[in-house]
Amino acid sequence: EDIPVITIDGPTASGKGTLADEVARALGYWVLDSGALYRATGLAASRAGVDLDDGAAVAAVAAGLDLHFEDGRAFLDEEDISDALRQEATGLMASRVAVHLPVRAALHQLQLDFRRLPGLVADGRDMGTAIFPAAPLKVFLSASAATRAERRYKQLISKGIPANIEDLRADLEARDARDKGRSASPLQAAPDAFTLDNSAQTIEESRDLVLAWWQERG
Ligand code: C5P
Repeated sequence: EDIPVITIDGPTASGKGTLADEVARALGYWVLDSGALYRATGLAASRAGVDLDDGAAVAAVAAGLDLHFEDGRAFLDEEDISDALRQEATGLMASRVAVHLPVRAALHQLQLDFRRLPGLVADGRDMGTAIFPAAPLKVFLSASAATRAERRYKQLISKGIPANIEDLRADLEARDARDKGRSASPLQAAPDAFTLDNSAQTIEESRDLVLAWWQERG
């Protein structure tokens, strides 16, 4: 049936997750943080001693993931992995496993299953291009690398996690390059996506803009 989906794609630390949460809260919709699935896959594979460059082996890990989300926390085999998921090292592992087509295929249906009434806001890299290509509203976020590094820095520091802004910027640029350069569902705007550069916007301004676009869709 017709369950509405809003997709929000964009590069690392562009504020996709926060924007998705805010838009979903305003509309009473569900959220899919697709990056968490790649992060959990990277974490589970590395813990199992699987070579992250071995696409078939990592895909087997992805297909067997026992992952669930509850009250904003993520559980892998009943263990709360929420904090481990947010680490930069886990983000880098995620971008390594995400290049493999079999890994992306193994996570495809899992992502579709998040689509439930009354609607879904899905954030990631390929929500509008590969997972929900028929979504009635697609947003592509952009923000400069400097802005994104600064945001990520503040985010980590506020959580008491030590961070270095230059290292963060280098990490996110490496991740962007890998995400844009891969052949399997590279990071790119869908042709019918609305582009939003939120470098100079508050989260409320970005949210209201997306909600206005949504209203215009009718
Ligand atoms: O968004 P987040 O930083 O959590 O994503 C971590 C990594 O997972 C990204 O750098 C990207 O390589 C991968 N990813 C992806 N497709 C998605 C979401 C995330 O390839 N839809």
